[in-house]
Amino acid sequence: MCGIVGYIGKKQACDILLEGLKRLEYRGYDSAGVAVIRDNELIVEKSKGRITTLENKISDKLQSATTGIAHTRWATHGEPNEANAHPHTDHTGKIALVHNGIIENFASLRKYLESQNIEFTSETDSEVLAKLIGHFYKEGNLEQAVRDALSEVQGTYGIAVICSDCPDKIVAARKGSPLIVGIGNDEFIVASDASAIIEHTNQVIYLSDGEMVTVNAEGFRTTTLDDVPVTKDIQQLEWKLEEIELDGFEHFMLKEIFEQPQSLRTCMRGRINTREGAIHLGGIANYTRELARAHRFIFTACGTAWHAGLIGEYLFEELARLPAETEYSSEFRYRNPIIEDGSVICAISQSGETADTLAALREAKEKGALAIGIVNTVGSTIARETDAGIYLHVGPEIGVASTKAFTGQIAVLAMLGAYLGRRRHLSQHNFEQFISALEKIPDQIEEVLNLSNTIRQIAGDLFECEHWLYLGRGYNYPVALEGALKIKEISYVHAEGMPAAEMKHGPIALVNPGMPAVFIATHSSQYDKILGNIEEVKARGGKVVAVITKGDSQLAKKCDYIFEVPQTPEPLEPLLTVVPLQLLAYHVAVLRGCNIDKPRNLAKSVTVE
Ligand code: F6R
Repeated sequence: MCGIVGYIGKKQACDILLEGLKRLEYRGYDSAGVAVIRDNELIVEKSKGRITTLENKISDKLQSATTGIAHTRWATHGEPNEANAHPHTDHTGKIALVHNGIIENFASLRKYLESQNIEFTSETDSEVLAKLIGHFYKEGNLEQAVRDALSEVQGTYGIAVICSDCPDKIVAARKGSPLIVGIGNDEFIVASDASAIIEHTNQVIYLSDGEMVTVNAEGFRTTTLDDVPVTKDIQQLEWKLEEIELDGFEHFMLKEIFEQPQSLRTCMRGRINTREGAIHLGGIANYTRELARAHRFIFTACGTAWHAGLIGEYLFEELARLPAETEYSSEFRYRNPIIEDGSVICAISQSGETADTLAALREAKEKGALAIGIVNTVGSTIARETDAGIYLHVGPEIGVASTKAFTGQIAVLAMLGAYLGRRRHLSQHNFEQFISALEKIPDQIEEVLNLSNTIRQIAGDLFECEHWLYLGRGYNYPVALEGALKIKEISYVHAEGMPAAEMKHGPIALVNPGMPAVFIATHSSQYDKILGNIEEVKARGGKVVAVITKGDSQLAKKCDYIFEVPQTPEPLEPLLTVVPLQLLAYHVAVLRGCNIDKPRNLAKSVTVE
């Protein structure tokens, strides 16, 4: 999604802004722009396409400025072109604005402004906001103009605004779109994402919805939109610069796949104690009784996080005997869902900013549900709006295709399921066996990662196939969905994931000679059933690729290609079985020449509906 960076300080703003935009590239964008104030003149430069194109257009004129704002745009209103790129300016050319979010009533506001003889140069909703601020602006009082304009708009926004009359000031505000202010030595960086800040400082404040901040050489002042002062705590960013660098890997996705043993160790550190035979989850400790006595858990999420939720549903039912269901956030929020007493809404989100998940969470909270979050990004909106939660602690995920966040989500769900299970029906013996198996997972993933070269060779045989099936049962059904999503999003092939038994109810018609069907066929409770499904595909000439339990030579003989994973209790299998599928998607995408970390049409964090 779109990205915002603003800088005010003593250094050359342009360099810092462009560097910041590059750090935000992973979020997805199709045009970029920068605006600076130099010698009381506002200078704007924009371009379609990559940030390097913008960089090549930056003239010396922009270089010595020490205040500026910049933006990467992911088109919503209007095609990706230079005119629609941000920053947008007001009719006087003094004010520039960058905006994330959507102004819903932009058409009526535009009509009004046009009736005031204000001309527009783009098709965007964001330009309306820039022009509206200009319309309200009275010499020297940028904050009041921003306030007046925001009181007229409906929709969501994270904005940063500068004005050539007040060259040492940035005004920023948010409603529904994240904004963070980094506090450095004699400098401030305003950004929509911590990765644009981390290089300069780890001291930040997170703006909440309905808040505005003015930063200038003297410091920062936060208020509500009605100008009531708000005191903000300065917080420490958790992430380190090294974590957002490639560190010798060709792509972030590959780096993050290989990071999984370590990211899961960090996720479980201090939480699982096999010596004591206990799990400690500090983030929910104050709500343990309510959670253990809940009547119903509702997991809500999108995409990969929704697949993790499905696994959570199985885990909760099995370990804790707690009724659980998993809902697409986008459907749940508009369905007028029934929330009875004792319902818990659990939002699962890597970014903690996904608009639909946030809205689903708010809907259930409004109806009285206890809200918990399983979130990776510390300080994100979902993390702040839940009553309690468990962070993934898997480090920043930069690759657009989610990998280590998925396994982190499953690990957290497994810990929470076992923790609540122990307080309900799970015996100490079974609990201890489960957590000691969970603790072994990172070492077992290391073993699976050794398959990467073999998987690359197999990908070499299959990468030209345009249609793929992914099939699994039980805990491995969501893994089939996730495997299919991974290959779709980065390789642009058509893939369908489904419960293996569903194949007979229609999709088997798709199977033709040479079509790859990827089975997750571990030695689990449904092993015999999945063998039957494999035979059905073979009988129709499909190519069988199977993730199997290590040493299953009988099944190995039936398959065209196998990926062996070590043995673990069935509820934990997804943590191992998904890894070869991540690698398969990666190698196929590389062989197809796709842009792994910036797949077409995709954004890392979907902060609009
Ligand atoms: C797929 C992927 C997406 C996200 C989804 C939710 O690889 O990354 O499907 O899982 O957009 O994002 P978060 O977890 O940030 O709420």
